[in-house]
Amino acid sequence: MDKSFHISTFGCQMNVNDSRWLFQALRSRGFVEAGPEEARVIILNTCSVREKPEQKVYSLLGRIQRMTGNPGAFVAVGGCVAQQIGEGFFKRFEQVRLVFGTDALPQTPAMIDRLCNEPKLRMSLLDFSEHYPEREAQSTSEPSAFVNIMQGCDNFCAYCIVPFTRGQQKSRAPDAVLKECTAALANGAREITLLGQNVNSYGQDISGQAPVCKKNTFAELLFRVAALPGLARLRFVTPHPKDVASEIIEAFGSLPVLCPKLHLPLQSGSDRILKRMGRKYDMAAYRNIVERLRTARPDIQFSTDVIVGFPGETEEDFAQTVLVMQEIGFANSFSFCYSDRPGTAASQLDGKLALEIKAERLQRLQSWQNAHTQACLDALVGTQTDVLLEEEPGYSLRRQGRDPYGNPVHVCLDGANLPAGSIVPVCVEEAKKHSLLARQAGTPW
Ligand code: SAH
Ligand code: SF4
Ligand code: F3S
Repeated sequence: MDKSFHISTFGCQMNVNDSRWLFQALRSRGFVEAGPEEARVIILNTCSVREKPEQKVYSLLGRIQRMTGNPGAFVAVGGCVAQQIGEGFFKRFEQVRLVFGTDALPQTPAMIDRLCNEPKLRMSLLDFSEHYPEREAQSTSEPSAFVNIMQGCDNFCAYCIVPFTRGQQKSRAPDAVLKECTAALANGAREITLLGQNVNSYGQDISGQAPVCKKNTFAELLFRVAALPGLARLRFVTPHPKDVASEIIEAFGSLPVLCPKLHLPLQSGSDRILKRMGRKYDMAAYRNIVERLRTARPDIQFSTDVIVGFPGETEEDFAQTVLVMQEIGFANSFSFCYSDRPGTAASQLDGKLALEIKAERLQRLQSWQNAHTQACLDALVGTQTDVLLEEEPGYSLRRQGRDPYGNPVHVCLDGANLPAGSIVPVCVEEAKKHSLLARQAGTPW
């Protein structure tokens, strides 16, 4: 039987990680990866955070309908757009035979198997689960592992569709998190990134599972993961400024494995807009977190997310955002024009801005950011740092990896055939547009 599959992924790191799991789970059921035009099962793991990625899903489905060369081909749509649109996909696209929501991932591989055997069947798996949807362990051997610690979000920021598409916050049991981290390290991982829509409100939900650790807080979990033998780098994404407890700040001061980089979404630099967004912090609170973190960890760098042109944003509000970005000096940022999402509070607000105004503001913000990001990379030339090699050795002595800030680095090695996961001391020789060039300057560990 033809058990070939192809996965296309949109959206955030959680979707990327979900796709990675699905890939492994299908392979362990005897499926083989194929190109999008040959595969029997085409899986789209979708994102609906803004209108654009949602639209991309529809245009891709149209294209698949026309282009596939496999007569038995069918499509499985999963992720956030699947959760949002549900069985609506069946009416619009003949080839869609499975729609799976964000909590249904654990059942998806078995369902795909069944659909391969029963060509007339169409199924939807859209229920939210009460607890974190634990899934069958898959062994991977990547130097950098991503581990989910929760699913969903209870914040309902005015603009955001995530609480509707990922459901209410469900913390994963700490022992399950630690078990997955331990297994990843045993398989050769050196770096772990803890993932969730709102990692630092971990353990605060009533549906969170058995409070095995003392307080069951994110800081507690962070300290427990940091203590695992073999771990060289620890990261997490995404924290919310309203939940940055003092213990998290202390963790940056006392845990050398915690990388000196924090992605802390700002969204806007104007208190008035932050309030309209329902973000539950103001600029004084945000600045206070940044200052305390800088005291605890002087080499820390920040990155952020910004929404430009939220309904009611004036030129003055926008100017404040740019000023804050310059003052804090984010090393990088992800910025987007506000996009109306169905069912969100912001979609009902007045004061919507014309696309040209939003686009022009975004352009101004991004041109400052691009120059600043480049200046941050330039400032690293001549410094010593460590690079975690990401890929297995090939023919070239030039290998790719990342520094502790997450910057991509191309390293010229001394000649050793180092495996992926090695950490190489380097001297940075040149800054490119989005990456660094470096030379080995010490013994790998
Ligand atoms: N949980 C994270 C981010 C989730 S969504 C947080 O709280 O920050 C990722 C990013 O997409 C957000 O930080 C926001 O900047 C952006 N985003 C979300 N909804 C949006 C919308 N309707 N329009 C434009 N950008 C949006
Ligand atoms: Fe969306 Fe806000 Fe939840 Fe982040 S915290 S996922 S922006 S609702
Ligand atoms: Fe997109 Fe869903 Fe992630 S909307 S950003 S894939 S949580």
